[in-house]
Amino acid sequence: EKDGYDHFMLKEIFEQPHTIFDCLRGRLDVNAGTITMAGVQNHIDQIKNANRILIIACGTSWHAGLVAEYVFEELCRIPVEVEYASEFRYRNPIVNKGDVIIAISQSGETADTLVALESAKEKGATIFGVVNVVGSSIARISHAGAYTHAGPEIGVASTKAFTAQLAVLTMIALKVGHEKGTIDETRYRKLLKELEEVPEKVSAALKLNDHIKALAEKYKDARDFLFLGRGYNFPIALEGALKLKEISYIHAEGYPAAEMKHGPIALVDETLPVVFVATKDSYHEKIVSNIQEIKARKGKVLAVISENDEIIEKMADDVMIVPFADELVAPLISVIPLQLLAYYIGIAKGCDVDKPRNLAKSVTVE
Ligand code: F6R
Repeated sequence: EKDGYDHFMLKEIFEQPHTIFDCLRGRLDVNAGTITMAGVQNHIDQIKNANRILIIACGTSWHAGLVAEYVFEELCRIPVEVEYASEFRYRNPIVNKGDVIIAISQSGETADTLVALESAKEKGATIFGVVNVVGSSIARISHAGAYTHAGPEIGVASTKAFTAQLAVLTMIALKVGHEKGTIDETRYRKLLKELEEVPEKVSAALKLNDHIKALAEKYKDARDFLFLGRGYNFPIALEGALKLKEISYIHAEGYPAAEMKHGPIALVDETLPVVFVATKDSYHEKIVSNIQEIKARKGKVLAVISENDEIIEKMADDVMIVPFADELVAPLISVIPLQLLAYYIGIAKGCDVDKPRNLAKSVTVE
């Protein structure tokens, strides 16, 4: 059932071109210029006119929510807040009738997320579920939703569910923004095409497999790792750090690259690997200076970059090169090398990558 792969995690990482394709299939029609999502269509006025959108999730799903915050604000011009379910539910949050809440969950059973939604629902919010497991508790308490269709995820660390969440959330934002008139037609059409091209770019990124396996050997003995990114790639830095911690037990922190100088820069010396998620986007020049700041302190720089980025290639100790994509869909591709890096460092350290210690696939206790 592992299809010849040594672990479910690796199998699921490699399934992503297919799972993303399945997620887009039947929804995205580039020629017609349409996105078909019944759950969104049925609530379109409500979502379009929402004063704000709240996103509630935990862990990796929360990281997908952070990417969605940037995407929704850009394309729909609706303010978005992303909440840890556990913090939201215990603090007597302000929920108004008519608020739209997007719940993101692979399992659909995460206790903190479920309870947070139940209380928000009582207060009159509309719950929109982005869930992988069909018929799960969160799917059932949602008023509407869109499944991620990634298939069963067995590895405890979430990989293919995450990219499917990003694909669904991006489609929702595109559809709402288009209906609302906050995206111009050319950009809308361009982004539909960009989304359609994601599966093949993910396949190309997976060709980094052997290169990343070698990098894992080189860096496996580091005590700590720092992951940095800006803009749409900032949540991917958080996700890269989370994957590495849970799979290899190496201490890792993710930060917005510019925030580094407000504290974490104190950690930098010649023993610290710093992973930059630095694909070509509107933040590129800024992140180049952040890389310089690390190099000036002798940190080791590993960078996920786009093709033909000689500038960063010259500065970094090691690079992981992925195909260029519009910054809005880039996270779907830039996360791939980080998943592989966590996997191979875990393997190099002899860890049980499919079942990391102390973790459960679905956290049904609070
Ligand atoms: C990390 C991971 C967890 C889950 C979190 C939420 O790899 O798998 O952080 O993302 O427990 O789970 P779901 O999405 O099932 O609500």
